[in-house]
Amino acid sequence: MQVRVVAPATSANLGSGFDVIAVALDIYNEVTAEPTSDGTITVTCDAGSEPGLLDPDSNMVCRGYAHACNALKVPSQTRGVALACVNRIPIARGLGSSAAAALSGVLIAAALHDAHWDDPHVLALVTELEGHPDNAAAALLGGATISIADGPTVRFAVHEGLHAVLFVPDIQLRTDAARTVLPHSLDRADAVYNLGRCALLVHALESGRFELLRDAMDDRWHQPQRTVLLPYLPALIAAALDAGACGAALSGAGPSVIAFTDADPSGIADTLQAAAHFTGITGHTLNCALSQAGAHVEMTP
Ligand code: HSE
Repeated sequence: MQVRVVAPATSANLGSGFDVIAVALDIYNEVTAEPTSDGTITVTCDAGSEPGLLDPDSNMVCRGYAHACNALKVPSQTRGVALACVNRIPIARGLGSSAAAALSGVLIAAALHDAHWDDPHVLALVTELEGHPDNAAAALLGGATISIADGPTVRFAVHEGLHAVLFVPDIQLRTDAARTVLPHSLDRADAVYNLGRCALLVHALESGRFELLRDAMDDRWHQPQRTVLLPYLPALIAAALDAGACGAALSGAGPSVIAFTDADPSGIADTLQAAAHFTGITGHTLNCALSQAGAHVEMTP
């Protein structure tokens, strides 16, 4: 028996939708799993992956798999699996690499150990590892998702024609580090500021009124605070908007920046690269479509 899971990159928050909104992107990690008889969990990664990913104690696919095995009470001697990962999602760049990995591990455990879990159960397990549901929801369901803690998750399709342009810095930023600068409470005016924009964001994405994204992706909840860690952020958002992007924001907890366009993305990519150079931050740009598909599981006997 072999299980193969393909899971997409995701971009969470999109400015105003902190910890709630995410979209799936057309960049995919793949994990192939084969049961082994010795009870150990081993992991290999494609060439070029970071050496740290080979440690089963920290690799998020292994952690997702072990977490789901614990939930299923699979005896340790029958958990043995060899995991082979192809990592295309940039790591620790705000593109949901850990959510895709943890989700893949949970889905592999479910497939190998006959769990018949529904999507909310899978999502709850991944969220226990991630600490927030937004990236995991979009990785599981594709399209765009609205997540609330301890409640239902809703998927909706992004209206056709929207493309993402990403600036992916060379630096990494761990989400837990990026969360240390967040406020514990919000001024009412700031809460209303984000609430209205988040509602507008859902409408803009679903209806295709992409001209609303400029306002809808603005935020007072996390981006101003994270600018302390990522000082180039305002300049890159402004550059993308000046170059014609419909909207732009920090991708997830950063450090990547995501801009959206319904026209030719190449000018925005060039402008982002130039603005990054001007602010002294190195990295590369990626143009990608949004993914309507979420994670996909294939089993072969
Ligand atoms: N909503 C999370 C955060 C996303 O902003 O911390 C992390 O990718």
